[in-house]
Amino acid sequence: MKNDLAKVLISQEEIQKRVSELGAQISADYVEKEPILVCILKGASIFYADLCRAIPIPMNMDFMAVSSYGNRTKSSGEVEIRKDLSGPIDGRHVIIVEDIVDSGFTLSYLSRVLSNRGAASVRICTLLDKPERRAPGITIKADYFGFTIGNEFVVGYGLDYAEKYRNLPFIGVLKPEIYENN
Ligand code: PRP
Repeated sequence: MKNDLAKVLISQEEIQKRVSELGAQISADYVEKEPILVCILKGASIFYADLCRAIPIPMNMDFMAVSSYGNRTKSSGEVEIRKDLSGPIDGRHVIIVEDIVDSGFTLSYLSRVLSNRGAASVRICTLLDKPERRAPGITIKADYFGFTIGNEFVVGYGLDYAEKYRNLPFIGVLKPEIYENN
């Protein structure tokens, strides 16, 4: 898999250090609030597992899976819930955990949906933010983010290309020939 990468963008050590910082920040902000951390499958799964273990205060875990409608329709802004939360969230403090904010459509939709369900608060925690890719009109901002990155094709630590590379323990940049030939 490593041969498919142009370079390592964020090392395993850098990720772990930043995840610890984010965990400490969230723990300080949510003392006695028992937040629900919502993992957005599949990309956020690895980050989520590490982040939860960096949060020493009481918290609950839940999971959602979403996808944009059809193929290459991210720009349409339509998002479909493929797997929903296992319980109600009214009155609860929710933190949506994502691996990356790209166009911003997914998080914009999810924050709206979860707020409409009566959550006491909804905040966003993302490992990566790609502000250059934000779609026009989308003003979503992460409350907690690990790293801001440029417009590079990143994989690893949960992020995939064609379902591969999620198990790399670091974030790497994919060689253009890997995705250009497909
Ligand atoms: C990725 C990522 C976010 C979303 C971000 O998910 O995990 O959920 O895209 O893109 P946006 O800001 O343009 O909406 P993807 O649909 O690739 O599914 P996955 O998490 O299962 O890989």
